[in-house]
This record gives sequence, C-alpha cells and structure tokens, in this order.
Amino acid sequence: LQKESLAQIKDAVDAKKVNEIRVHVLGKKGPLTEVLRGMRDLPAEERPKVGSFANKVRDEIGTALEERRSELEAERTAAKLAKEKIDVTLPGVQVKQGQPHVLEQVIDQIEELFLGLGFQVIAGPEVEEEHYNFEMLNLPKDHPARDMQDTFYITDSILMRTQTSPVQARTMEKHDFSQGPLKMISPGKVYRRDTDDATHSHQFHQIEGLVVDKHITMADLKGTLQLVAKTLFGEEREIRMRPSYFPFTEPSAEVDVSCFKCGGKGCAVCKYTGWIETLGAGMVHPNVLNMAGIDSEVYGGFAFGLGPDRFAMLKYGVNDIRDFYLNDVRFLEQFSQKG
Ligand code: PHE
Repeated sequence: LQKESLAQIKDAVDAKKVNEIRVHVLGKKGPLTEVLRGMRDLPAEERPKVGSFANKVRDEIGTALEERRSELEAERTAAKLAKEKIDVTLPGVQVKQGQPHVLEQVIDQIEELFLGLGFQVIAGPEVEEEHYNFEMLNLPKDHPARDMQDTFYITDSILMRTQTSPVQARTMEKHDFSQGPLKMISPGKVYRRDTDDATHSHQFHQIEGLVVDKHITMADLKGTLQLVAKTLFGEEREIRMRPSYFPFTEPSAEVDVSCFKCGGKGCAVCKYTGWIETLGAGMVHPNVLNMAGIDSEVYGGFAFGLGPDRFAMLKYGVNDIRDFYLNDVRFLEQFSQKG
C-alpha cells in the first residue's frame, strides 16, 4: 500500500489529484484507517507493533503528499511568472497626446496675463435676459444699435447672449467698492444670427475686460491693451486707437495692432495700411455705471472686447473661422504647444 501510494503521489499532476489521493488513502474509509480500526481484533502483544508501523506509513504518506503539493504549487507559480514576463526591449505602443484647442490656448494666454494684473475671471450665463444683454448696457428697446448684433431670441425677453458684456453688468451691480476697484475679464461663447462663412460664425468667443475705479483714464485703457497686443502678437507690436461707436462706451475706439508677420495668407490684410483691426474698447458710458448703481460722478471705468477667434486667425494666419469648429485633427494638430 505504501509503495503504491507513494508512486501515485509522485505521478499526481495537480493539486486536485493530490487531494484525491489523500482522501482515498488517509480518509475515514481509506485502507489505513481500516488497518487501525482492525487492531482491536489483534492479540494485545501485536497491537503496538502493528500500530506504530501503520502510523509510520501514514506519516510517510502524509509527508509525501505535502511535498508533492508544494512542489506542484512551485511549478504553477513558475509557469505563471514565465507567462507574465515582460520583454522591456519590445518597441512601445505610441499613445497620441492631445492638447488644448487652439482657441483655448489663446484664451488661456489672455486669462493668464490678466490674472497676473490682478483681474478676476468671471463667467456668466449664455442664455441671458434681454435686460442684461441690452438694457443695462445702454441699449434700450428699439435702439438702432441693436441692429449691430443680430440676436437669437428664445422668448420675448430671453436670448442667447450676443456679447459677454452682460457679465460685466451683473458684476457691476454686485460690486462692493469698499473692497477695492472692480477689475474683471469675462471669457465665453456668444451667439449671433449670422450666416456662417469664412469670417462669420453664429457662435464665437469674446473676452471682455472691465475696470471701474476712481480716476481711471484712457491712458489706463491704452496701456492695458498695449500689453495684450505685445503678449499675444510679439514684443515689437504697437497699437493705435481710432474713434468709433459703441452704445456702452463714450468715447469709443477701434483698436489696431501694427502689422506683423504670421506666415499665413490671412496676414496680407495689413500689408497696405500697416495696421490690423483687432478689438473694440472705450470709457464706460455714465448711463451704464448709473444703471448698475454706481455713481458716475465719482467712479469711471474702461472696457474692451476682443475676439479670441479673430486673434487666433490673425496670429496663425487662419483664413476660415469655421476651421475652429470642424474639429478636424489635421487642422488642430498644427497648433501643438510642444512647438
Ligand atoms: N461687446 C462689444 C461687441 O461685442 C465689444 C466691446 C466691449 C466694445 C467693450 C467696447 C467695449 O461689439
């Protein structure tokens, strides 16, 4: 029995088989238990001899079972490890890295500049009340200047904002001047009822800036915009301001940046005049301050509005604004920040 069992154990191919042998040989109904049980029929003097022999056999079989078990386990672990081995010399799989959208890059750059100047970045609703989009900005109902911004109306008094200026109106209303001057920019999407073409999109972006404090002058506005131009278009850029009209600023100005080389065809526009029109600005109209509950006799301010879409087109020579919204990776990949 011993020999036979030991041979079987040696041949056992897995842990299950080892366990089967254990149950079969050493179990309650196994031959060894049988022998030990049969001892009571033996003469008293033979019992110790048979008993100790049977126990020895049981121990040996037990040990052999245990050895085979751990042997099999070691084999299994080794096989598993061999299977999981990683060949570090194999070529890797290239993971394509994404990047912020080119418009996001321009917006980030402007936000960073203004955060550095101590401005707050404030967001507001894209679905806006007519009251904040127009009335509070000195554009009463039937004001002809509403034609400058063709509007998507949702109801009689709710619309898709045509500019980010309503965010300024909302912020001015709430501002507590005992805490210091109001300095903010509001980046975001705006909507106009334009037919999409190379230079128009029914949805585009604006970043508007607003400063309200005592003793604000046009020189503060010009200095700030000069910094924007240099940060985005290069240190050598100059700006010039031309008289213009916006309902919420007086005086108002159209701001041009001196011509620069950007490599693309879009840059050709400034070849003849030496200047490119980039943004609108002005000194906040007293009506706008008063409507927001700010005393225009004491406080004054400047505001400007720029379009990241237009900035990105100028900076990178993009000729069609729709390219920004088509999400064609071949287009977007050109603006890798890795340089
Ligand atoms: N909100 C204006 C527009 O969309 C731009 C602007 C903002 C002009 C602030 C002047 C001052 O036309």
